[in-house]
Amino acid sequence: MFNRLCIIGVGLIGGSIARTARQQNLSKSIVGYGRQQDVQNLETAKRLGVIDNYYLRIEEAVQSADCVVIATPVAAIESIFASLKPVWSEYTIYTDVSSTKVSVVLAAQRVFGSVPENFVPAHPIAGAEQSGVEASVDDLFLNKRLIISPLSQTRTEALQKIQGFWERCGSVVSVMDVERHDAILAATSHLPHILAFALVDMLGHKDEQSEIFKYAAGGFKDFTRIASSDPIMWRDICSANKDEIIPLLQQTREQLDKIQHLLENSDSQQLFAIFAYANTARQRFLNQFEGIMSKSITFQVQPGGKLQGEARVPGDKSMSHRSIMLGSLAEGVTHVKGFLEAEDALATLQAFRDMGVEIEGPVNGCLTIHGVGKHGLKAPKGELYLGNSGTSMRLLSGLLAGQSFNSVLTGDKSLSGRPMKRVTEPLAAMGADIKTTEKGTAPLYITGKAGQLKGINYVMPMASAQVKSCLLLAGMYAEGETSVTEPAPTRDHTERMLSGFSYPVKQQGRKVTITANGNLNAADIDVPSDISSAAFFLVGASIAPGSDLLLKHVGINPTRTGVIDILRLMGANIEVLNERIVGGEPVADLHVVYSPLKGIDIPEELVPLAIDEFPVLFVAAACAEGQTRLSGAEELRVKESDRIQVMADGLQILGVNAQPTADGMVIQGGSIGGGVVTSHGDHRIAMSFSIAGLRANAPITILDCANVNTSFPEFKYLVKRLGLALTSDDSNNVEVEATEGSIAEES
Ligand code: S3P
Repeated sequence: MFNRLCIIGVGLIGGSIARTARQQNLSKSIVGYGRQQDVQNLETAKRLGVIDNYYLRIEEAVQSADCVVIATPVAAIESIFASLKPVWSEYTIYTDVSSTKVSVVLAAQRVFGSVPENFVPAHPIAGAEQSGVEASVDDLFLNKRLIISPLSQTRTEALQKIQGFWERCGSVVSVMDVERHDAILAATSHLPHILAFALVDMLGHKDEQSEIFKYAAGGFKDFTRIASSDPIMWRDICSANKDEIIPLLQQTREQLDKIQHLLENSDSQQLFAIFAYANTARQRFLNQFEGIMSKSITFQVQPGGKLQGEARVPGDKSMSHRSIMLGSLAEGVTHVKGFLEAEDALATLQAFRDMGVEIEGPVNGCLTIHGVGKHGLKAPKGELYLGNSGTSMRLLSGLLAGQSFNSVLTGDKSLSGRPMKRVTEPLAAMGADIKTTEKGTAPLYITGKAGQLKGINYVMPMASAQVKSCLLLAGMYAEGETSVTEPAPTRDHTERMLSGFSYPVKQQGRKVTITANGNLNAADIDVPSDISSAAFFLVGASIAPGSDLLLKHVGINPTRTGVIDILRLMGANIEVLNERIVGGEPVADLHVVYSPLKGIDIPEELVPLAIDEFPVLFVAAACAEGQTRLSGAEELRVKESDRIQVMADGLQILGVNAQPTADGMVIQGGSIGGGVVTSHGDHRIAMSFSIAGLRANAPITILDCANVNTSFPEFKYLVKRLGLALTSDDSNNVEVEATEGSIAEES
């Protein structure tokens, strides 16, 4: 990328940039600059091979450099600009790494009059408590965030070059303006450092100092780790960003006062509410963060095995979402059992907490929702981040269209690519105001139109329970009747649960009608196991000789059982035992025993009833004798991934003759080989290829499996306990967790 990279200030950060650039081959030569008093450090840098050479005169250091990185402490930046000014070259790109950006821009303005076009302000969010070149490493920036804060005059080529440089150093680059950068960093970095320094300072000055520090393991040690950072540097950072930090300190003081007050009044309920909110907010943020930053999870399955025993798979995802939504809007307290503690449903839970609903749990799948009533939601303070969940985004768009506040819905990369016009267009016909990107995707900017929505009679062009549910939720806030007619039956959990909460819904054939005349009364919900999660085991046991499995308490709502019908048509041996109704939904135990399968033409009317199960049904087809044909399933192309293409690609890698078509697939059954496939971040693809291992003749490696956590975090443990040799590179203790995991074998 560069011929000569010059690092001004070769400490922890500067040294790590040099090491990374060298390791990634980003510059032919790398030189350093420092002051007389830095000679020893510069010598060390040279001896360690971090830099090729160093200079004590800045003009020599930067001469013929095509990139100059200013990696000095923030307080030194103005004097560095001043000494660079006489030798500033328009052929060089300049950048920095300072933790505050407004102060850097102001310093540049003071020195140059205005910020030079070839200076690109940047900030890698990475570091360590140690300082100096000896602490530098070549992976400090790997998978770490880096913020670039260009100004209007910043040259595009310079910006692109610096962005490319950091991406090649392994960073995840975001672009934002300097003010936003400083506001965010004040909250996420500067305030926590101040609190850590303040706590150690306060406790350290107490008389019982020695006692406190003697027993200061655990919480104190974790919380105050960052107080080991360089005090001069932090003094300078905090001073440079004080305008953003001072209001945050005021808010922190108010929050501490509130907690003190709750303790004085023994208000344990409110105290719990604060802690519980913080607990899940942190978890959600970690999930979100890990989703972006962590190297993705890889599953490896050894060929062969059979599935045997009993299991209860986790709660139904669709019903878990709806239990939060309707429980929150109900009058009174709703208790939920069997809630799916996976990322998708937790995203919905968090969204309602963000809108002021107090929700206790989840603890072992149990939740207590303190309903706020149909008109009780409050404006969220920020965006509602819905992760990977299409259901959450589409249903919420209907619900939020008729509120008295505005909201913004965002999601992960996959969700941000999924079509939202299917909901925003009919909602617009009701009078909603929702802006999408030009492509009709998230973020969704919703202007609440309380009291202004009008009912419509909508004939859905596609069979979609999400669209139907979205419009029914909007219809609860619309004038007159809102009716939705579906081209084929789709899952009816929204309608059933609304009735369970005593909200009137009228069903006439394929048409459902709702009005705003009604209230939701709190009701207890028992969420059965998700047949979509059970499907992996239904297929696994059907294809692996010797299998005999009992799946307990599975939801068998007739709008969801297409997978059983299709597998039975293929010759599977599945018994539905102990059928019962639990909380308005049919439930049964499913007994499945190995049976040789044959290829079929999948009846099109079963497609919406098995819409999420096709990835694993394709695996069943690959193990069946003869040809299996699916058509009428173009919806599969707009799920968490393009499930037709991604499954066809993976099956072909495994040696299966799988031909994708516009609306389905033709699969010639035969043998399954080994190989490396990718799930494209789609949970159901990852689990389907894992199940294929049962009939493969060589190991299968499945890349990009982190999103299994969106619907079935226990999958890797459960499948192993039941007989598939799966390992995951994010856990070297699968063995222990497999027996101690939350899904205990039922006796
Ligand atoms: C769902 C409906 C289905 C399904 C999704 C969950 C729901 O989507 O694929 O996993 O909970 O309503 P569509 O309605 O878009 O087909």
